[in-house]
Amino acid sequence: MSHEPPIFQPMTADDLAAVTALEAALQSFPWSLGNFADSLAQGHVAEVCRLGDELIGFSVVMLVLDEAHLLNIGVARGQQGQGLGARLLLRAIDRARSDGATRMLLEVRAANEPAIAFYRRAGFSQIGLRRGYYPATVGREDALVFDKDLR
Ligand SMILES: CC(C)(COP(=O)(O)OP(=O)(O)OC[C@H]1O[C@@H](n2cnc3c(N)ncnc32)[C@H](O)[C@@H]1OP(=O)(O)O)[C@@H](O)C(=O)NCCC(=O)NCCS
Repeated sequence: MSHEPPIFQPMTADDLAAVTALEAALQSFPWSLGNFADSLAQGHVAEVCRLGDELIGFSVVMLVLDEAHLLNIGVARGQQGQGLGARLLLRAIDRARSDGATRMLLEVRAANEPAIAFYRRAGFSQIGLRRGYYPATVGREDALVFDKDLR
């Protein structure tokens, strides 16, 4: 029921089908179920957000030494703009920091303006550009590299 508060839990194998369906609704070149399963198998820190029975968000972070990489994050379209993405991201940052990360990095499609605004709002700044990093409907699309100091 929609008046319940959202809950945040570690992503498990039981979530993979719902997470993959959510991702497919959000991205034109979505992660596959296998991509999410590989992340869990590799021990990446992955979380889901639920509203009642419905899975409405997720985040996936890889920690390499003291660098956390935000690999993926998404909020269901009908639930966007209410602060859930920010809560998922803040939780991922807190967890990364307590796991010893001193910075968080991410790549975002150069044309993904809502996500770029979202990351800037969360204190990330652009540190680089990877040309042709992403597949696109026509040709390739650049990635912007962002980071945030966690110290
Ligand atoms: C990016 C995404 C996770 C944000 O989730 P969300 O729950 O809508 O974000 P929030 O409501 O927490 O927004 C937090 C801040 O981000 C910014 N923001 C979020 N969506 C925005 C939009 N569409 N346009 C401009 N700014 C936006 C705002 O500054 C907002 O702060 P405010 O509420 O004080 O104005 C969500 O849009 C999404 O799932 N997008 C599709 C998947 C995707 O692109 N993921 C990122 C791949 S790199």
